[in-house]
Amino acid sequence: MGKRVRVAVIGVGNCASSLIQGVHFYRNAKEDEFVPGLMHVNLGGYHIRDIEFTAAFDIDQRKVGHDLTEAIFTYPNNTVRFVEDLPKSGIKVMRGMTHDGLGKYLSEVITKAPGSTDDIVDILKQTQTDVVVSYLPVGSEEATKWYVEKVLDAGCAFVNCIPVFIAREAYWRREFEKRGLPVIGDDIKSQVGATIVHRTLTRLFRERGVKLVHTYQLNVGGNMDFYNMLERARLESKKISKTNAVTSQLDYDIGEENVHIGPSDYVAWLKDRKWAYIRLEGITFGNVPLNLEAKLEVVDSPNSAGVVIDAVRCCKLALDHGLSGALDGPSSYFMKSPPTQYTDDEAREKTEQFIQQHRSDASSE
Ligand SMILES: NC(=O)c1ccc[n+]([C@@H]2O[C@H](COP(=O)([O-])OP(=O)(O)OC[C@H]3O[C@@H](n4cnc5c(N)ncnc54)[C@H](O)[C@@H]3O)[C@@H](O)[C@H]2O)c1
Repeated sequence: MGKRVRVAVIGVGNCASSLIQGVHFYRNAKEDEFVPGLMHVNLGGYHIRDIEFTAAFDIDQRKVGHDLTEAIFTYPNNTVRFVEDLPKSGIKVMRGMTHDGLGKYLSEVITKAPGSTDDIVDILKQTQTDVVVSYLPVGSEEATKWYVEKVLDAGCAFVNCIPVFIAREAYWRREFEKRGLPVIGDDIKSQVGATIVHRTLTRLFRERGVKLVHTYQLNVGGNMDFYNMLERARLESKKISKTNAVTSQLDYDIGEENVHIGPSDYVAWLKDRKWAYIRLEGITFGNVPLNLEAKLEVVDSPNSAGVVIDAVRCCKLALDHGLSGALDGPSSYFMKSPPTQYTDDEAREKTEQFIQQHRSDASSE
């Protein structure tokens, strides 16, 4: 039995469901062939089956106190169930700290579990958790900072999937550096999601000499993430994150008024499907117009889990090698708002180099 990547999750919603199902689904994935859905079967010496879950935190009374396997299939979670026979995890969902986790809309759907917050630091230490993944709802500014303090006190690495700026902020990067801990953030960039498609098209325009003059990305979906995002006041960092992810691919200022990127509406019957409508209007040779329109249909949560499954293993490699602070390459490849933005080709190259340089001799066989 080789070394393990011991992972805890904050927020047992759709994204956690896809990640947990995925670790089981791909446990026997072959290392020598292309496996649909994965970027790396073995990442730096860690196979997917080397990931194991240690703890989970939520505040929804339907989830707290229940086995993690049961909680991930509990309403209002509504993503695809692609593993029917998921064994019980033996992990009880613990009571987290609510703070600003529940906004106007989520409070209509979620009732807080009774009782007080569990001792997060102690649980993370007792379970020897390596990496904590945050899947809190958009707009959870205070809750995120509260949990990050606990993660630091417990001595764990952190993967920040949500658009509250931690890895991007010098203050928080220093806190991770001081404790000798790695962080990957912020705001997970899905495998082939609206962000990477929009970035790639934007970069294509620039590299082929087409001046982008107007662009939009309108997103609709029917999961709790979209329902929560109906509350515009919670969206400030989400809009910054999604917009910068695209405009960072240009070396000129397109003008704030010429870019519109954000979650646009909640359509209940879409459930965890997300539709992104992307339009780019440009000027090409001879100052004539050139327009491009694309529609992307995805199932939102598995699309992000396929990236998180790599991010947690990169954090583990960093722990193995005593690296601390924000991991530059992996953050730029896996996240919408990393400390430094590169093109996706550069970010991928840096991530592959990171993996090669920090290979572990771990193996589950
Ligand atoms: N492709 C993607 O799905 C994708 C991409 C980028 C970012 N994200 C972000 O990932 C996050 C999670 O997305 P999701 O679809 O799983 O959302 P979700 O609403 O399904 O799950 C959020 C979970 O957090 C719980 N929660 C709320 N407040 C809490 C608190 N204070 N402590 C502990 N748990 C709390 C809720 O009860 C719920 O179980 C969102 O912020 C989303 O924007 C997702």
